[in-house]
Amino acid sequence: MNKRVEKALNEQIEKEAFSSQFYLAMASWAETQGLNGTAKFLYTHSDEERFHMLKLVKFVNERGGKSIIPGLKKPADSFKGVEHVFQLLLDHELSVTQSINELVDICLQEKDYTTHNFIQWYVSEQLEEEALARTIIDKIKLIGNDKGGLYLFDRDLENAAIQIDKPATF
Ligand code: FEO
Repeated sequence: MNKRVEKALNEQIEKEAFSSQFYLAMASWAETQGLNGTAKFLYTHSDEERFHMLKLVKFVNERGGKSIIPGLKKPADSFKGVEHVFQLLLDHELSVTQSINELVDICLQEKDYTTHNFIQWYVSEQLEEEALARTIIDKIKLIGNDKGGLYLFDRDLENAAIQIDKPATF
């Protein structure tokens, strides 16, 4: 496997692993706030990020490279509220999108069209995740300080978590 591509893929493995930890911290915080639907949504999202990481680990190893499993960095553990959580989530996804785009660029520079093809799955996934985070933030802004609205929002997110709760496939 091309060494520059391998290095970039290993950096992406670390980013996906951190995303999983970050959303796990958000999920745990939401659970302690009685926001069970939000917690379920974020636990599911954390699992998805682990799947993103695993998919990269397997790809690198199958193509003759060596995946490096990163250590755990401690994410934030307290948040100001749901809007803060989802704004951080969106900002984080934007930075992940940027690094996926850089990976695409490296694949093209190194003429690694197989990895380029593989990475397209992540390009589409980022589009979906950014759109979802923006929709959620728009809903939170509509709710404002309405406690009843927050209750309904939390319930809706639980349903959203059930819909995206799909078994990981490779
Ligand atoms: Fe795996 Fe949400 O980026």
